[in-house]
Amino acid sequence: MFLECQDVFKLYTDPVIKIQVPALRGIELAADKGEMSAIIGPSGAGKSTLINLIGGIDKPSSGNIIVDGQVINKMKKKELVEYRRHQVGFLYQFPQRNLIWNITAFENVIFPMKMTSRWGLQKQKQRTLELLKRVGLEKRVNHKPHELSGGEAQRVGIAVALANDPAIILADEPTGELDSVTTFKIIDYFQEINRELGTTFVVVTHDHRFANMTKQAVNILDGQIIGMHRAIDPEKSVSEREEIFYIDDHGNIRIPEELRNKAGLKKHAKLELIDGHITIIPA
Ligand SMILES: Nc1ncnc2c1ncn2[C@@H]1O[C@H](COP(=O)(O)OP(=O)(O)O)[C@@H](O)[C@H]1O
Ligand SMILES: [Mg+2]
Repeated sequence: MFLECQDVFKLYTDPVIKIQVPALRGIELAADKGEMSAIIGPSGAGKSTLINLIGGIDKPSSGNIIVDGQVINKMKKKELVEYRRHQVGFLYQFPQRNLIWNITAFENVIFPMKMTSRWGLQKQKQRTLELLKRVGLEKRVNHKPHELSGGEAQRVGIAVALANDPAIILADEPTGELDSVTTFKIIDYFQEINRELGTTFVVVTHDHRFANMTKQAVNILDGQIIGMHRAIDPEKSVSEREEIFYIDDHGNIRIPEELRNKAGLKKHAKLELIDGHITIIPA
């Protein structure tokens, strides 16, 4: 496994009542190298918290986060800086957070390369142009972010995230600000980069359209993984998918409200084993 979250908890101290509240409660997650994972959940589910832990921006209260054999939460400060600079590319919802506003697209993309000095200046310049071309912005190289549309600015953000050739891209609501057409275009670029460069992607979003584009999408709610959607036959089509629910160590399963309503389930239910299958009957 390239990425693993093992029983990850994150507690925050509520600034007003001074009580510790859990944002993540026992997250288990695994992704192979080169896989694109979508983590879907509503606002407050813990998505940003989780992505910040994987990106080494914050530390879990307990549990482990392993990326490419390295335990991120056990890294020293200096190792974390190296990890974030060399191995991770971040993409956030607002272009203002991804880009430096008063410099051009070109200067934005070359900036992270200058920080790491991994390549000489000629290579950096060549790579900057290649990356901007990859996201279809070869004609916008000398534009500043405010001279670009929202979708174009986000595409510069993708080029910035790719600058140091990261093994993993972490995207937090990357299409949250964009209309449908632009959203699909961004998803297309993600898929193309994922396919051609083999970059692993973790995308957290409340947008179910993203889920339908990946082989596997995990549902998160109240800091817990409650289930996942996965393609029935990934070789054939990712649009035919089944929903799998998690059963925790206590045997609890979270039945979505829609399904409960359809089945007429309220507060109590009977479980019966019929032909080896558990049947839930309203009581
Ligand atoms: N720095 C913080 N201090 C206290 N509580 C926080 C902090 N960051 C997030 N939370 C709380 O943790 C929960 C999950 O937040 P977050 O990860 O931002 O969710 P999402 O990104 O899914 O909307 C929320 O209840 C939020 O209020
Ligand atoms: Mg968030």
